[in-house]
Amino acid sequence: MAVSTETLPARCRHRFPIFGQRIYINSCAQGALSDAVRGAYEQYLRDWDEYGAPWEYWVERGEAARASFADLINAEPDEVAVTTSESAGVASLASGLRFARRSKVVLTDWEFPTIGQIWHAQEARGARVVHVREADDGTIPVDHFAQAIDDDTLLVSITHVCYRNGAMTDVRNIVDLAHERGAYVLLDVYQSIGSLPVDVKELGVDFLGAGVLKYLLGSAGLGFFYCRRELVEKVWPTATGWFADRDIFEMDHTDYSPATTASRFQSGTPPIPAIYAGIGGMDLMKEIGIAETREHVLGLNARLIEGLDELQATLVTPRPPERRGALMCVKSNDVTALVAALEQDGIVTSERDSNLRISAHAYNTAEDVDTVLASLQRHRQLLA
Ligand SMILES: Cc1ncc(COP(=O)(O)O)c(C=O)c1O
Repeated sequence: MAVSTETLPARCRHRFPIFGQRIYINSCAQGALSDAVRGAYEQYLRDWDEYGAPWEYWVERGEAARASFADLINAEPDEVAVTTSESAGVASLASGLRFARRSKVVLTDWEFPTIGQIWHAQEARGARVVHVREADDGTIPVDHFAQAIDDDTLLVSITHVCYRNGAMTDVRNIVDLAHERGAYVLLDVYQSIGSLPVDVKELGVDFLGAGVLKYLLGSAGLGFFYCRRELVEKVWPTATGWFADRDIFEMDHTDYSPATTASRFQSGTPPIPAIYAGIGGMDLMKEIGIAETREHVLGLNARLIEGLDELQATLVTPRPPERRGALMCVKSNDVTALVAALEQDGIVTSERDSNLRISAHAYNTAEDVDTVLASLQRHRQLLA
């Protein structure tokens, strides 16, 4: 292990007051609240109170958030839209695609509902949506994509890490295949960003959607959408708003002139409070170190797997480290009861399907993992 499982939490755990009350190992649902993000919200209220309507500064905060996110994914700020959710950015993209020369959108069974719903909504506009199925071993082999992506495919829409089982998609090989066949790729990094390095150039994706409330430690209300620079002006969003305009200060209600940058995927008034919080969260994760966090969590999860094997629990998440994100999913015969039993023991987790979701982050320790395992041992009858 490159990083000791003690180094990172020793550096940052004291900044997350929740650990004074309980063991929080549920970052796949929401990152823990830090002093930095609490401070950012307090600063928002102070600025509002003191200056009344500091809109120039608030617009500048939006630019700071854009630049910070661009830096995180190795993009340029003009390739990033600041949105109110991932859905908002993806829906804007969808509204700007024409399903004429190519009409097919290829999805997987691992997508978050919002992604499936947005693409299926485009069926009314001529899109044909095809789902790539999971194999019996719980993976989605690149082969399955090879069968689905063809000359009629406009877009392949994939998730980086699945919110239901923690599996990581083989993005680079799927991108190569899609590009070979003339299709674009949209990547949903909501469940990976902040937990591992994400580099749009390395991954080769054309579009990317994200939020900040999980491993980036921000709050609800802020999302980002990346569009590769060469593609920005090829998409003409019809779901739009004045913050997508070429010049938002022109206040021209007589025409539609979308920005020549990725801002064209924006909409109305930006989520200023969530932007303050998002900057706080992103800065904190950069300070903690995202590559180090990945190593740290892989170490914790190796320990978790060992303990789960001893308990003869069924791990739903793939075992090879390169095929999973931070999230680990364990089968239960009554997952609601299991989450409640853990909660009784002072441990916060969550559930999806019939799986218990355990998701460690930089602030979790080896002792947290051992406490979870001890609790699972006590509630063994709820494991399947
Ligand atoms: C993989 C994934 N995508 C998207 C979202 C949420 O998207 P939105 O910001 O549109 O609510 C989540 C939230 O849990 C998610 O896990």
